[in-house]
Amino acid sequence: MEVKTSLLDNMIGVGDMVLLEPLSEDSFLGNLKKRFDHSEIYTYIGSVVISMNPYRSLPIYTPEKVEEYRNRNFYELSPHIYALADEAYRSLRDQDKDQCILITGESGAGKTEASKLVMSYVAAVCGKGHEVNKVKEQLLQSNPVLEAFGNAKTVRNDNSSRFGKYMDIEFDFKGDPLGGVISNYLLEKSRVVKQPRGERNFHVFYQLLSGASDDTLRKLKLDRDFSKYNYLSLDSAVVSGLDDAANFRTVRNAMQIVGFMEDEVQSVLELVAAVLKLGNIEFKPESRCNGTDESRVKDKNDLKEMCELLGMEQSVLERAFSYRTVEAKMEKVSTTLNVAQAYYARDALAKNLYSRLFSWLVTRINESIQAQTKARHKVMGVLDIYGFEIFEDNSFEQFIINYCNEKLQQIFIELTLREEQEEYVREGIEWTNIEYFNNAIICDLIENNQNGILAMLDEECLRPGTVTDETFLDKLNTICADHQHFESRLNKNSKFLNDHSLPHNCFRIQHYAGKVLYRVEGFVDKNNDLLYRDLSQAMYKANHSLIKQLFPEGNPAKVNLKRPPTAGFQFRASVGTLMRNLQTKNPNYIRCIKPNDKKASHIFTDSLVRHQVRYLGLMENVRVRRAGYAFRQPYEPCLERYKMLCKRTWPHWKGPAREGVEVLMADLQIPAEEISYGRSKIFIRNPRTLFFLEEKRKQCLQDLATLIQKIYRGWKCRTHFLLMKKSQIVVAAWYRRYAQQKTYRNIKSATTVVQSYTRGWQARKLLRELKYQKRCEEAVTTIAAFWHGTQARLELRRLKQEARNKHAVTVIWAYWQGTKARRELRRLKEEARRKHAVALIWAYWQGLKVRREYRKFFRANAGKKIYDFTIQRIIQKYFLGLKSSMPSMSPIDRKWPARPYGFLDGVHTELRKIFHHWRCKKYRDQFTEEKKAVYEEKLEASEIFKDKKALYPSSVSQPFKGDYLEISKNPKYQKLNSAVDEKVLLADVVNKINRANGKGTPRIFLLTKKNFVLADQKTGQVKASIPLPDVTSMSVSTQKDGFFALKLKEGSASAVKGDFLLSSEHLIEIITKLHRIGATAADREKLKVDISDEFLVQFKQDKVCVKFIQSSPKNGNSVSCKRKNNRLLEVSVPTSP
Ligand SMILES: Nc1ncnc2c1ncn2[C@@H]1O[C@H](COP(=O)(O)OP(=O)(O)OP(=O)(O)O)[C@@H](O)[C@H]1O
Ligand SMILES: [Mg+2]
Repeated sequence: MEVKTSLLDNMIGVGDMVLLEPLSEDSFLGNLKKRFDHSEIYTYIGSVVISMNPYRSLPIYTPEKVEEYRNRNFYELSPHIYALADEAYRSLRDQDKDQCILITGESGAGKTEASKLVMSYVAAVCGKGHEVNKVKEQLLQSNPVLEAFGNAKTVRNDNSSRFGKYMDIEFDFKGDPLGGVISNYLLEKSRVVKQPRGERNFHVFYQLLSGASDDTLRKLKLDRDFSKYNYLSLDSAVVSGLDDAANFRTVRNAMQIVGFMEDEVQSVLELVAAVLKLGNIEFKPESRCNGTDESRVKDKNDLKEMCELLGMEQSVLERAFSYRTVEAKMEKVSTTLNVAQAYYARDALAKNLYSRLFSWLVTRINESIQAQTKARHKVMGVLDIYGFEIFEDNSFEQFIINYCNEKLQQIFIELTLREEQEEYVREGIEWTNIEYFNNAIICDLIENNQNGILAMLDEECLRPGTVTDETFLDKLNTICADHQHFESRLNKNSKFLNDHSLPHNCFRIQHYAGKVLYRVEGFVDKNNDLLYRDLSQAMYKANHSLIKQLFPEGNPAKVNLKRPPTAGFQFRASVGTLMRNLQTKNPNYIRCIKPNDKKASHIFTDSLVRHQVRYLGLMENVRVRRAGYAFRQPYEPCLERYKMLCKRTWPHWKGPAREGVEVLMADLQIPAEEISYGRSKIFIRNPRTLFFLEEKRKQCLQDLATLIQKIYRGWKCRTHFLLMKKSQIVVAAWYRRYAQQKTYRNIKSATTVVQSYTRGWQARKLLRELKYQKRCEEAVTTIAAFWHGTQARLELRRLKQEARNKHAVTVIWAYWQGTKARRELRRLKEEARRKHAVALIWAYWQGLKVRREYRKFFRANAGKKIYDFTIQRIIQKYFLGLKSSMPSMSPIDRKWPARPYGFLDGVHTELRKIFHHWRCKKYRDQFTEEKKAVYEEKLEASEIFKDKKALYPSSVSQPFKGDYLEISKNPKYQKLNSAVDEKVLLADVVNKINRANGKGTPRIFLLTKKNFVLADQKTGQVKASIPLPDVTSMSVSTQKDGFFALKLKEGSASAVKGDFLLSSEHLIEIITKLHRIGATAADREKLKVDISDEFLVQFKQDKVCVKFIQSSPKNGNSVSCKRKNNRLLEVSVPTSP
């Protein structure tokens, strides 16, 4: 069964201020404080919810809480914002009544949080499904986007909404959300260009700079450093507990969910960046020839970047900052702007750009979240609008805001009274007139079309001639002088003349919530909200789709000379629309209160809360609510709650609930004037009566509790006694059973013992008799046995005798037979021995005869034949063995099988030689002509150098390559190659030893059939070309060096400078090749190769001795050559390690 509870249960203070007794401001505050101290932040005034900002997160917004408040009556549970949201949602869904939730309170009181709580509650309890969830998500995600662009940190609230917001959420007949429409009011755009001390610009600027990627910032031409931007106050750029970077990501994500396209997001960010850039544009004065000052942009970099961002021509914007064109009746007059005007124009542009962007965002969100069906829908409006503002310095904005609050108060009074009246009519209760303050008079003072303050302001702004804030005040002083809620020092009404709290440039209005002093400075300007046409035209020219949309008036094709509507006019119109909208709906109020100025939890500043209670008109609320009847309740719950107070209604009332309540009230002697009986509800005039009922109920509950306790205790004791009695009978029965069982077991065992003794005695007696009988039988048997034994032994003895006799006969017979057999055997053996002897003698005789016959055939040639045969076999075996173990055909294979017998030594060696010659021939036969020539060269080298020069062994394995420089292929030597017309046999780099100092210079050495050439290694220029016939001999050392001397024919043309001393790594090849060419030339003698460690060479006129000495490897591993004197050139060759 569902537990019926009531708001009145476990109340801390009173949950509904209507029940406050006595009602005074102090008791009101006392009740709020008491509840606040117990974390009860919500309190009702009838159906109005007062919400205290706890400044900490309370565990009262959990899904369990949502379930608790879901589908419960408003007064059933303790006060909660969910109860209000549930009431509104249910009456929208079930009774088809459009709802509005009006949330008011001062900045930081928790309006925005409250609106989000209402939205999240409704989202949680309404229908589910893919489409519905998408709509819900879009509606909820519109909040972060609007908060980023419309909220800022102020001294009063770190996330202060700087715009008013009204959101209509549309539902279908089932109560599922279909979409929504958002209206925004009066964005505080002045914040874009200037922020009060300790406050910040709108969140989005900081979020963009902290959260955007480096790439995005680069594209937007922005720097992460806040200090680079004049429009960003550094005062509280970083707010503790606010993660701008993370919020930027949340906003981007929310924009995506709401349905912004990627290019739209980019355009929005470009505009935000452009505003920042705009703030950095500075101006300097420049004097003109006519004496006036003109402004010029100081540093054009920011201007340039901003124009690039917005796709604008720099010169167009620059001109718009310097000139102002006024158009009147087809006439255009251009005037220059001085520096102050240029700054004004810049800031006006920034403010307009931002506020138009904000309005565009709201429109764009509306496009996304608008209901997709045209079907009739129910609407729940949530209004989160600035509360009453009373500052030290109040300006145009406060005036507008307070005007809005006056209108809301009026609608509150109207609707509350109307509702009250409707309820009285519905319930058939007589209407008593209620005394309350109607603020319509103040609204009239402000909005009256003829002489209202706003109308005066508009008139002043549109009036030709000099218009200042002072002229506006003068006008007010004359027109509103008699109004009882308007106060001014310069009023003709003399009563304020000496009021020093009212300065001359101010006027004061007595609002319903208190008096507010307004400073007129800036009223005209802010109301005008002018943006020079040159600027809007410049903006329209931008090559940026969003900017173009934001400044439609800049379109030269649609020039409108009419002044745009003033800010005041626009606001009055939108407030009017809002009020008309709200009047068609069932209102639900949430009044938010801020407990302290420190944004701290647990602190309740009495004066601050008192102030808010006053200007929110909460006491007024309570009074209006209590004007008729303080408390009302349907009959059924009322009877259910109080029926225990009367014997006739307790415990059950059989008749209708109303009669029951009447009987109850009569029984309790409640005075008739205190209560009224409506159709479905009882109305209680005074809270005291209710508390009397509650008190009685509490007492009665206590009595009832005692009665219940008494009955319960009696029942408990009786039950216990009966249980004990029942248990005692059971225990006794069980014990008796046990005792009887024990006695029975004893008797039974005694009987068994007696029985056994008797049976034992009888058995023993019988045993004795049986034993005697058995002994007698045994004695007879024994005697019979002895007798039979004697008989048997006699018979046995007789039989044995008989057998002995028979055996003796058999033995004698056997002996006789044996003797006979042995004799016969002996005879037969003798006969066989004789026969064998005869056969043996016969065989010997036959053998002797045969040997004598054949002896002559055997002995003559047997030895030789056997020898020849054996030798033949051995040789055959040798050859066959050799055949199977022949070495490979490689001439360098030194393997040869071992000889098996010593006598084959000579043959074996000879065969080895033959085989080697044969395989060498086979090997040679495979040679091509070139290879043959190479081997011939190698052979010739061996003939020249083997065992004569220490360098030779290392050259054997190196093939003679000839052309080491690949002279014909290398393009570097193309010239050189063409200079030599013969085929090049050898091309290499050699060292030419300088004749004067013995130092080497690298030279290209080319050898052809006819001459050798020395050329420069780098340039390929021929240095010397010597015909080979001029070479007489060559000299080399015996050591490992590569030195060689080419001696030339004395007197020949080549020998002018003398012989050549060269050194090469391929000495062996060069000398062999030279030697070979000499050998093949028919017309010449062979070139002689002289191998000696000392030889003479002819250097010009000198005969120089080239001497090779061995040096220790310690002095270096390279060969060194030194000219010692003009007779000696010493080459030191390191000995091999
Ligand atoms: N119910 C709540 N529970 C916890 N904290 C809250 C609650 N309501 C408000 N707050 C705290 O108070 C701060 C201010 O609340 P909120 O932004 O809703 O104020 P506001 O009335 O909308 O102010 P403004 O008029 O400046 O926009 C919130 O950021 C939050 O920290
Ligand atoms: Mg807010």
